[in-house]
Amino acid sequence: MIVEPKIRGFICTTAHAEGCRENVKNQIEYVKAKGKVASGKKVLVIGASTGYGLASRITAAFAGGAATIGVMFEKPSNGKKTASAGWYNTAAFEEFAAKEGLYAKSINGDAFSKDIKEQVINLIKEDLGKVDLVVYSLAAPRRTMPDGETVSSVLKTTGEAYTNKTVDVANRTVMPVTIEPATEKEIEDTVKVMGGEDWKDWISAMKEADVLADGAVTMAYSYIGPELTHPMYYNGSIGAAKAHLYNTAKELTKEFAEIGLSAYVSVNKALVTQASSAIPIVPLYTAILYKVMKPLGLHEGCIEQMHRLFKDKLYSEPKVLADDCLLRVDDWELKDEVQQKVSEAWEKISTENLDELADVDGYWDEFYNMFGFGCENVDYDKDIEIDIKIPSIV
Ligand code: NAI
Repeated sequence: MIVEPKIRGFICTTAHAEGCRENVKNQIEYVKAKGKVASGKKVLVIGASTGYGLASRITAAFAGGAATIGVMFEKPSNGKKTASAGWYNTAAFEEFAAKEGLYAKSINGDAFSKDIKEQVINLIKEDLGKVDLVVYSLAAPRRTMPDGETVSSVLKTTGEAYTNKTVDVANRTVMPVTIEPATEKEIEDTVKVMGGEDWKDWISAMKEADVLADGAVTMAYSYIGPELTHPMYYNGSIGAAKAHLYNTAKELTKEFAEIGLSAYVSVNKALVTQASSAIPIVPLYTAILYKVMKPLGLHEGCIEQMHRLFKDKLYSEPKVLADDCLLRVDDWELKDEVQQKVSEAWEKISTENLDELADVDGYWDEFYNMFGFGCENVDYDKDIEIDIKIPSIV
């Protein structure tokens, strides 16, 4: 099939298998060129198929020499429609891992469920015995709770409505947007989906099954950002979930002291990923950020961030912590010289000067790229196979 991008709202409903393979290959080449990093050697990544989770898995495996198990929620092809990008990424990851003799298996299904937790634990028992690093990188719009109720996360403010600028990246228009406050129930539900409860369920189930190595490390991802985005993010419903995640890290370290577990939250940079494209205001901020950081030589994508996280923060000796459980790779994003330029641009930005002040082209390049489009070295006129198997999933 000749595969073209089909954009609907914040997502692209098609993905290009060869482009996704190329993206994974490029990320592997990046970390290999940067040299080896210290890492857990038996690693579980929950949310391993795209964005930060995929980049973590690539860093652990190809720069850290780790055996990896990845959990994700992706769609295979049915022969007519393409698979999702994360499916193709995972197929490519396993292909390249096999070539280097690195153990890699993946489990596709709902990470919130008991069933998937059991499948993963059994796989660890059979193949790895125990794991020494668990990365929790889920970004999900909803969660089915153990009692069968499905709750959704919302991207709203808490307290009062908030009006600021946003960009319609499709029409390249800057316009005002008002974000309504979340109800108490919406905040609670967002915390259930994106907070630390499920992370803790994973760690508890793994401890119970004795598949966590002594001195194991676990890490989840968060975002803080500058004040400009605080009403929407840090102080919004998603921020409430991230605060819960942070408290969970503290709890986990305390509760599992017996096995010497250390739990961390890494605060990462704002980037275009499938999860972040849906957040109002943030895409305009991200496009301005790219415009500011690129000429300063400070721009990073997921793979650069994760490689730096492993090398300079998590596994450096001593660890570089912002407090007892916080790692910060948003340090470059939050540099004064960056944020000052971003605020100046934010004040002035309008539809008329959008391209001058924001990197909307860069935003679109990364957006298309996430789905395997716009890659050099890929012939998009070629008829390609869309039904690609993931070797470990039969
Ligand atoms: P993403 O959308 O690229 O990746 C999400 C991953 O979770 C995918 O592997 C997907 O298959 C998996 N997933 C989703 N629902 C699942 C389910 N029910 N069961 C199993 N797997 C499931 O997201 P991204 O942006 O990499 O986010 C990962 C974490 O990083 C999130 O906690 C996010 O808040 C955080 N973060 C993201 C930033 C950004 O700008 N993108 C900035 C800082 C932190």
